[in-house]
Amino acid sequence: PKRVAVFASGSGSNAEKIAEYFANRTDIDITLILSNNPQAGVITRARRLHIPVVLFDRKTFYDTPKVIEILQNERIDLIVLAGFMMLVPEAMVRAFPNKIVNIHPALLPKYGGKGMYGHFVHEAVVAAQESASGISIHFVNERYDEGDIIFQATCPVTPEDTPDDVARKVQVLEHQHYPAVVEKLLNALNG
Ligand code: GAR
Repeated sequence: PKRVAVFASGSGSNAEKIAEYFANRTDIDITLILSNNPQAGVITRARRLHIPVVLFDRKTFYDTPKVIEILQNERIDLIVLAGFMMLVPEAMVRAFPNKIVNIHPALLPKYGGKGMYGHFVHEAVVAAQESASGISIHFVNERYDEGDIIFQATCPVTPEDTPDDVARKVQVLEHQHYPAVVEKLLNALNG
């Protein structure tokens, strides 16, 4: 089977949707969930889903090849970032060219970059009185939110919407689309 590693720093609702989507498949295996945050909700979800978890700290991630070695030893074919809040080190991007994807909770290239993650994104969208927001699924390069866009979907934003309202609409789109986009990418891989 194609082997997938999911990186998550927080609640992990997207990681869980992806794991559930592929749960009964023999051709695709969610092999590992990796996190920098020992308190992350994703860890409880992973345990419930019987998926092994790898925890790492910032220093290990940026200053050692440890995480890359784990991914290589596990023969990971695709790396899926699902609410992962750290910049991917250049060495990891080079080790997995076009094999790392991220989901961003806005319509890139707007509302991306350092500091634009999670709730801050929806606050900025509401403050700018946007009439739409959405999701962007993109390849990961060594800069925040700048890799080639693979898929986008939009939702309306009304003048009454709070950042929480926008977050809810965006989360519906994420859960609806991320697993299927991951599936398409896996099907396009050779071997
Ligand atoms: C998602 O909305 C995801 O797009 C966002 O974090 C949330 C994680 O939710 N990612 C970023 O902001 C990355 N810069 P989850 O933990 O419930 O999947």
